[in-house]
Amino acid sequence: MTTTVLTLVGSIRNDSTNLKLAHALAELAPEDIDVKVVSGKELAELAFYDEDIENAGAAPQNVADLREAAGAADALLIVTPEYNGTLPAVVKNAVDWLSRPFGSGALKGLPAAVVGTSMGQYGGVWAHDHGRLSLQIAGAEVVDQPRLELGHVHKRFADQEPVDDVEVRESGVGVLKALAEAAQNARVAVAG
Ligand SMILES: Cc1cc2nc3c(=O)[nH]c(=O)nc-3n(C[C@H](O)[C@H](O)[C@H](O)COP(=O)(O)O)c2cc1C
Repeated sequence: MTTTVLTLVGSIRNDSTNLKLAHALAELAPEDIDVKVVSGKELAELAFYDEDIENAGAAPQNVADLREAAGAADALLIVTPEYNGTLPAVVKNAVDWLSRPFGSGALKGLPAAVVGTSMGQYGGVWAHDHGRLSLQIAGAEVVDQPRLELGHVHKRFADQEPVDDVEVRESGVGVLKALAEAAQNARVAVAG
């Protein structure tokens, strides 16, 4: 059975390394894992989360589309740099939209993980920790092992593409497999 992993990218930059990392994971994914990438630019088109819009039942079409994609997915992956010690706003905003309606948002029960690459030596661990916390509070089933936190992004990917990086090929694929396993366990639990 194919596992669909909806993948949200936290950088809007044209030349984003995290976007390249997301595409690398899509390319490296085992045959039975389908990685669908939503770029930071697409996420930047979403309005800021607004509870008035939510309560009026008037979510914009691109929010409805993202919710539908998350609802149809078996797992969620965030691939993001760290901005000022936390998640970039663009991806946090997407998490907020996906966390609602309260109690029945698309994230509820969805296996989810956070990975990425950043300039600092620790590769954005604070952003990833905060992402996992947000996802957990939103009701997702956080998968926190293995991890992929690649530091010194500008040096590391100056001469090689993410798809050729050994840690991406091993731990990155490991994250996808862990998400697929969690999705399978969730299916079994639902089937009872
Ligand atoms: C507003 C801003 C804040 C940043 N804060 C951090 C930080 O807290 N930690 C860090 O490791 N890198 C930080 N960086 C550097 C990013 O890690 C770096 O720009 C990274 O390459 C962005 O990923 P991308 O290649 O996918 O765009 C920051 C960059 C920006 C623009």
